[in-house]
Amino acid sequence: MSDCSSCRSTGVTRRDFLARSSVVALTAVLAACGDDSDDGATGPTTVNLTVALSNFPTLGTVGGIAVVSSGSTPVAVVRSATATYRAFSLSCPHQGTTVSVSGTGFRCPNHGATFNASGAWTGGERTSGLREFTVASNPSAGTLTITS
Ligand code: FES
Repeated sequence: MSDCSSCRSTGVTRRDFLARSSVVALTAVLAACGDDSDDGATGPTTVNLTVALSNFPTLGTVGGIAVVSSGSTPVAVVRSATATYRAFSLSCPHQGTTVSVSGTGFRCPNHGATFNASGAWTGGERTSGLREFTVASNPSAGTLTITS
């Protein structure tokens, strides 16, 4: 088997060329697959905040959702039953974009991942569910304390 004139002048053999091409192709495939992975961007590692329910009228009914904190600690509360509330990080588990309330759940504006009111992924860019925080209700004070 003979090498072409270009290969002879550069010292690259057919075997070298094929080996280098395979590495380049494999790298391109792995990079393309990277978009489907969960980047583990789940937002702040610690949360400790207390909110007054009177400040969030949407939490007056079961199924209501309210964004109770923004900035570096975006948190939403869902009233999941008459006396039960759940809190979720609004940092998208895909790449950390802040997700928005959308209908009865959440939607990430970056790549379109959607989540239901239980924080579970339901469509769009495949990723894990929203990170859930612990909620302690104080009915007499009308407050929720949310901790991680
Ligand atoms: S950052 Fe990609 S779907 Fe949210």
